[in-house]
Formats: sequence, C-alpha cells, structure tokens
Amino acid sequence: MADNKIIDGKLIAETMKKEIAAEVANMIDSGVGAPHLAAVLVGEDGASLTYVASKEKACRSVGMISSVYRLSEKSTEEDILKTIDFLNNDPEIDGYIVQLPLPKHINETKIIQSINHDKDVDGFTLYNIGLMQLGEPCYQPATPFGIIELLKRSNVEIAGKHIVVMGRSNIVGTPVSVMLSRKGIDATVTICHSKTQNLKELTRQADILIVAIGDPQFVKADMVKEGAVVIDVGIHRIKDNSEKGYHVVGDVDYDEVYKVASKITPVPGGVGPMTIVSLLHNTLMAAKNNKK
Ligand code: GUN
Repeated sequence: MADNKIIDGKLIAETMKKEIAAEVANMIDSGVGAPHLAAVLVGEDGASLTYVASKEKACRSVGMISSVYRLSEKSTEEDILKTIDFLNNDPEIDGYIVQLPLPKHINETKIIQSINHDKDVDGFTLYNIGLMQLGEPCYQPATPFGIIELLKRSNVEIAGKHIVVMGRSNIVGTPVSVMLSRKGIDATVTICHSKTQNLKELTRQADILIVAIGDPQFVKADMVKEGAVVIDVGIHRIKDNSEKGYHVVGDVDYDEVYKVASKITPVPGGVGPMTIVSLLHNTLMAAKNNKK
C-alpha cells in the first residue's frame, strides 16, 4: 500500500513529464517543431557529467531535442563566450544552460550574465532574478520551482503557513524563500544559515521545513515539530561495504524525522527528479515564446 507520508517526487515528476510530453507532441503535430534545450559543459567534473546526461535523457523522454556543447577544462573565458554568443543567436535553440561549477579560472558571473535572458531556462540571469523578485512571470530556478510544485501537488497548504528554509544558496535557499513569500503563494518565511542562533528553536516552529544546507543527515527529530512537512534538498554519497560501495542520504536523518513529520521527501526520489522536470517545464515555456 502507498505510504501517504512519503512525498513521491519520482511519481509526481513522471506525471509532469506526461503533461509536458503531450504539449510537445501538440507542437510537433502543429508544425512548430520540438523544443530544443542545449547544455554547455566545460571540463569533466563527475557530478556535472551525470547531471547533463540526466537532462539529455529527460529531454528525449518527452520528445524534446537536446544538444551538449562540450568544452575543454582548459577553455578560456573567451572560448566559452563564443559558444554563448552562438547559442544566443541561433534561432534553433529555444533555451540553454551552462552547467555549474565552471573551472576555477573562469569568472562564473561573467559567463552566466552573458546568457540571453529569453533563453535562460535556469533562471540565473539578473533579469530573471529581478522578475522573480517582483513576482512577475519568468523562468524560475529549477529546484525552487520543483519544491513548490511538489508541495502543491501533494496538497500541502502553503498560504499563511510558517516555512523555515535552512540554507541561503543562490540556487536554492534564497530563491525558494523569495518565491514562497510572493503574493499568490503567501507563506511566511524564515531563512536560517550557518550564523543563525537558536537554530532548533526556529526549525521547531516550522509548519514546512525546507533543508538545503549540504550537510549529511544534519536535521534530527528534535529539530522538527510534530506534524511538520519536511522537504530534503540534500544529496550525499556515503561510502559503505555494499556492492555499490555507497548509499545516498539527504540533509535530513530520514528514519528519525519520518516518525515526527506528517509528510517527508525521501532521498533519492524526492526533490531530485523535480529539478529536472522543472527544467523541461522552462524549456517548453522558452519554445512557446520563441516559436510563437
Ligand atoms: N549545478 C548544480 N545545479 C545546477 C543547476 O541547477 N543548473 C546549472 N546550470 N548547474 C548546476
């Protein structure tokens, strides 16, 4: 029997993929063509290779076109900017991402801010961040959008609830805090970070606790209010003696916190699949804008 306590991100992402695939099929049938997502991958970072491969696979699974622009680890800023200039101007490309992190000698801000904001499906350009802050339609960053979609599709009430966000990164903590507090979503948000005092007192006030701190199994049961909804953004490989040699855990001590939470996301299979489907959602939006 399905466990109603577990927020099944994999299942919700599959439902969203079917919705997106139906829209892609309509675009193809009506002659506008399939949405095209490109990714710029600089170097051979292991996690980045895996993420980009998953994004390509997800694109294909909904009928979208995907291409990857692979550049050497030794590329200069100028080399990367040339690729960006090409992608900005190629009408065939509806949206693209530059996979992060970039090699240390590259100015990440300079590269990201060179992306044409109409194609910025990660929502990382200042223009899209500004629109998000104003609560205007924009490309919303994938993980925050995925988290909000998870909550909505699990029938978790958000308006008026106290949401405590642990972590203030540019990709997750900060944007999800802003998005949840905008008109129409209407949560009351507290952001906690490494300098926060009385952390447990704050986290115990959360109706919904969103954890994105990058610290394996940091959140224990005594930090969570009875009946709270817990969203775990963390993903860590822990070495063990199993055949695979590792197992995956989040930022939350799942077995402990499961007992006090009313709903909780597993790791893997919670937020992760939602991030990728959110990128597909943004790519569909970009294609509709580009091809209309
Ligand atoms: N690296 C880790 N997460 C992300 C993401 O959401 N987008 C990009 N471009 N790079 C990442």
